[in-house]
Amino acid sequence: MSADTHVVILAAGQGTRMKSRLPKVLHSVAGRPMIEHVLLTAESISPATMTLIVGHGGDVLRERLAGRPNVRFAVQEPQLGTAHALQQAEAHLAGQKGTLVLLSGDVPLLTASTLGRLIGTHQAAGAAATVVTAIVERPYGYGRIVRTKGRIARIVEERDASAHARQIREINSGIYAFDLAPLFDALRGIASQNAQGEFYLTDLIAIYRRRKLPVETLIVDDAEEIRGVNSRAELAEVSRIVRQRKNEELMAAGVTLVDPATTYVDMDVEIGVDTVIHPGVVIEGQTKIGSGCEIQGSVRIRDSEIADRVTIHNFCLIIGARVADGASIGPFAHLRPETVVGEKAKVGNFVELKKTSMGPGSKANHLTYLGDATIGARVNVGAGTITCNYDGVAKHATIIEDGAFIGSDSQLIAPVRIGKGAYVGAGSSITEDVPDGALGIARGRQSNVDGWVERKKGSAQTKTAPAKT
Ligand code: UD1
Ligand code: CA
Repeated sequence: MSADTHVVILAAGQGTRMKSRLPKVLHSVAGRPMIEHVLLTAESISPATMTLIVGHGGDVLRERLAGRPNVRFAVQEPQLGTAHALQQAEAHLAGQKGTLVLLSGDVPLLTASTLGRLIGTHQAAGAAATVVTAIVERPYGYGRIVRTKGRIARIVEERDASAHARQIREINSGIYAFDLAPLFDALRGIASQNAQGEFYLTDLIAIYRRRKLPVETLIVDDAEEIRGVNSRAELAEVSRIVRQRKNEELMAAGVTLVDPATTYVDMDVEIGVDTVIHPGVVIEGQTKIGSGCEIQGSVRIRDSEIADRVTIHNFCLIIGARVADGASIGPFAHLRPETVVGEKAKVGNFVELKKTSMGPGSKANHLTYLGDATIGARVNVGAGTITCNYDGVAKHATIIEDGAFIGSDSQLIAPVRIGKGAYVGAGSSITEDVPDGALGIARGRQSNVDGWVERKKGSAQTKTAPAKT
């Protein structure tokens, strides 16, 4: 922990341009709310304290971050601008010395290494303030860095900039390091005479220069890192960048992405070497995939664990499931939460599994629903089998023991148990347990009526007008 480094994150703004009911910083970027990206980066420098400035949607934010006791909250109400926002942290930081790193909740791509460099540059120079900047092709929307004799003189906001200043391509990232000593006193000197009538933190730079306090800049090489998210279009852009980074990481680590442009992998996903991911695959949340797997096109996997050498054929949806080594899933399979598919088991097309475990080597190859079922090893579940697990009030369990054989088009009306090695005759509606090694058969007995067709034709000819059906 750096005892003399503190982090403040601004996240009180309304995010008007998002046109959303959700606070802007809770919008998801590659499977993680924007604010989580910022917090993770902040944690990389082990600050003594982290303070989040909240206003709009503050309660929702507190709730979502309840699992992070290291985050303190300060409320900004009303929201009078970025300088006013930072002032709300004063009470939390009273009496502290050292460096305050200011981050923006809506700048989620900043890397830990840049943050480390910011603190390094700032402290080495003994600066009162260090501003992270970038030189970009399209500076539109950002504050511009005005330099005199090469040194930063002030920052002008887009709305307040002259036509001349608008040509400046060096932009303010909204990320700074400050020496705590002069900071809060100087903030009180900021006025709100600008296009938005807000207290701009950016005005601090000119104030510091007037007071002869040293101000530094850190120009980042990769301007994408400091992209801010103000609109849904920017959210999509930033998400694309995060995905691209993730895909590059995966490929560098030995994963084949047949078409990275159409492969959507969330930040926290892990994938083993020699796994091949085909186009149109979406892998979300806390998913782990082993090595040597093949995930064919148009598959979505969320919060699941896929072991090694698993094949997932096209068009599967897998959520909250575990799939063991060498299993084969799909095409068109749906694995729902709490499903466990054993080693070398096969789940074929149009098969849905919910809260069901299937033992090693078992198969359900076609058109089947298995819910609340515990299925042993080497079980064969025939086409069209359905566990009737719901009676309209409660869910009931089905147990199928090792080596059992369920004939096609059977309904297993739960609660029910099919014993070890037992058979269920095709087309059965099983309502009672089938003992080990027994055959359970429960269907209408077939009877054939000889000559019935001929007789029917004969009777039709005697009618004058056929009845309409
Ligand atoms: C700000 C900077 C701009 C910089 C850009 C980088 C100012 C005046 N402008 O502009 O120079 O190029 O960021 O992305 O600082 N916030 C509050 N309370 C407020 C207002 C804002 O907490 O009263 C928070 C917002 O929630 C957001 C951050 O501060 O997380 C930045 O505010 P925003 O309105 O997005 O500023 P920009 O116009 O992007
Ligand atoms: Ca912004």
